[in-house]
Amino acid sequence: MSSDKKVVLVTGASSGIGAAIAINFSEKGDKVVLVGRNERKLHSVSQRCKEIGGDTLIIIADLTIDADIKRLAPYGIRVNSVNPGPTKTDFMERLGFDDEKKRQFWNTLQKGTLLNQIIEPSEVADLVLFLASDKAKSITGSSFVIDSGASLKGLLEE
Ligand SMILES: NC(=O)c1ccc[n+]([C@@H]2O[C@H](COP(=O)([O-])OP(=O)(O)OC[C@H]3O[C@@H](n4cnc5c(N)ncnc54)[C@H](OP(=O)(O)O)[C@@H]3O)[C@@H](O)[C@H]2O)c1
Repeated sequence: MSSDKKVVLVTGASSGIGAAIAINFSEKGDKVVLVGRNERKLHSVSQRCKEIGGDTLIIIADLTIDADIKRLAPYGIRVNSVNPGPTKTDFMERLGFDDEKKRQFWNTLQKGTLLNQIIEPSEVADLVLFLASDKAKSITGSSFVIDSGASLKGLLEE
């Protein structure tokens, strides 16, 4: 691994936004630690990462992370939060929605955005990739919204 390569731990890596993030980091050659509970899905994402030249480690875990910015900053660890709006993942399957209910809900979510568009998981992954890069070396303790203007639309209509 060359010196500019990172080891990246991605929670929720078995699906949706987390899977897209894992794939994005793999594309640039970082080693990705994939964390989730669903072993089958984790292996599937791992396979995709390896196909594009990535190296992975799977950790099957049920977890929560409580990151403390003050504690981490002295070690040079930056902590930022990415807050997505409606993003095209499998989350409605998890909620047990049938195809018609999913179609209606996506439609409603799309109309709730200013740009009238649902976000692709890869767009969220691109933002995470930027924040993890040296180009963002002075950014910590910040929160980034990527929501096709959904929050703004809500404010404008209040
Ligand atoms: N999609 C959206 O429109 C949207 C909008 C706003 C915020 N978000 C947030 O973004 C995050 C990812 O969303 P998504 O749409 O990508 O969801 P998703 O496709 O349903 O994926 C959720 C991921 O979280 C993992 N996970 C859930 N509970 C876990 C636990 N207790 N321990 C370890 N892993 C756990 C799941 O893995 P396993 O099942 O393998 O454990 C899966 O990889 C969620 O926090 C969601 O609330 C999503």
